[in-house]
Amino acid sequence: MSSTLFRTKKIEQSIQDTEEPEHALKKSLSALDLTVFGVGVIIGTGIFVLTGTVAKNNAGPAVALAFVVAGVVCALAALCYAEFASTVPVAGSAYTFSYASLGELPAWIIGWDLVLEFALGTAVVAVGWSGYIASLLDNAGWHLPEALSGREGADGFGFDILAAALVLVLTAVLVVGTKLSARVTAVVVAIKVTVVLVVIIAGAFFVKGDNYDPFIPEAKPVEAGSGLDSPLVQLLFGWAPSNFGVMGIFTAASVVFFAFIGFDVVATAAEETKNPQRDMPRGILGSLVICTTLYVAVSVVVTGMQHYTELSVDAPLADAFKATGHPWFAGFISFGAAVGLTTVCMILLLGQTRVFFAMSRDGLLPRFFSHVHPRFRTPHRPTILLGVVIAIVAGFTSLSELAELVNIGTLFAFVVVAIGVVILRNTRPDLPRSFRTPLVPFLPILSVLASLWLMLNLPAETWLRFGVWMALGFLVYFVYGRSHSRLGRDEKQVRG
Ligand code: ALA
Repeated sequence: MSSTLFRTKKIEQSIQDTEEPEHALKKSLSALDLTVFGVGVIIGTGIFVLTGTVAKNNAGPAVALAFVVAGVVCALAALCYAEFASTVPVAGSAYTFSYASLGELPAWIIGWDLVLEFALGTAVVAVGWSGYIASLLDNAGWHLPEALSGREGADGFGFDILAAALVLVLTAVLVVGTKLSARVTAVVVAIKVTVVLVVIIAGAFFVKGDNYDPFIPEAKPVEAGSGLDSPLVQLLFGWAPSNFGVMGIFTAASVVFFAFIGFDVVATAAEETKNPQRDMPRGILGSLVICTTLYVAVSVVVTGMQHYTELSVDAPLADAFKATGHPWFAGFISFGAAVGLTTVCMILLLGQTRVFFAMSRDGLLPRFFSHVHPRFRTPHRPTILLGVVIAIVAGFTSLSELAELVNIGTLFAFVVVAIGVVILRNTRPDLPRSFRTPLVPFLPILSVLASLWLMLNLPAETWLRFGVWMALGFLVYFVYGRSHSRLGRDEKQVRG
């Protein structure tokens, strides 16, 4: 039994599968497209919304250091991702990489985990987007009814109609084709980066040195609650739960980590890349470096414009400009944020459908989902199914707890990918690798430890929710995937 759970898909087989005409995606993306894709999905709710929340509640001006910590964790993971993506250039990201290195059950686990990351990530960003749109509508004097704006009305019903509508529109865009959406993405990314640069450059003129004092506020104990909302690491070691101080930087890093999610999505587009061996590492590392630099600059500027205790938690970048008496800038930033969050949402949705597609092509999910559209050459069936489910989730859920759940899922994927790099070096040293992770196994081990450390800084209840989702995944695999696996069937035929 254990041998079937750990059966691995040959890398040559993975590449060959993508060449069957009715299951093949169009190869149209270049390194620049990938970097634009990366920046398009990375800069989003994390910097536009979470910076303020985290500076106010966990880290003060040291939120800039939290971005550095999270950026380092991501850079370590990126170096592992880049080797995998350039060795196994097929759709499915960490899922495909694990299938080729760790075996079927670990691959299933990671695929199931990525579904959580991307689906909930899409929902989180859609809700953030809806907040910015609602604030722009308010400026124009239009107000949505409470019950349709995501807040609960008098009867306890609340549905975020804007968030749901956004997800449905983007689903339609993706069904029509990646190239179209990549073009749209490029324009929107330009607007988003402009807005971020405006915040940094214009904001720098309003920075007051006093606001950086203290840069790392003193640790403050939090009132004891159920305990489940405290970081797991504090509970495990019996520390009194606290905010700020040096530990506050790590708590903040585990939350603002959300701002970096997306560079791994670049890897999911490997199969649609013209020259994955060369372009993948460039696309992944390039987008990560650009975003880390921008995040640190934005957080330094914003915490310098307004004292961290006064930052707003809904639209901190725009509100910092309002506080300095520049509403025009604030409006421009809100508009750019709303436009920018659209691409984030779209690319997360794209990554999500591609993982689902790859799992279905392997028979671990029904094969019905892996037929591409005869005209658009896109996996329209999983795109439509997941788009509708996510629209409903986005309509009914709140932001912050979901973001933490997305983070734990993503960090878990980083752990598996780093382990996979080491295993694949040992089991398939012969494979050509256009990008090689430096200092193996030291660097992948460091990546595993760094990701685990951030996971431990997430609340205990996030761990519980994650456990429940993964348990459900085991159930689906043992009831369906294991017996329908294409690899399993092929092996049986060879033996029979
Ligand atoms: N990194 C993306 C964001 O911050 C998911 O919205």
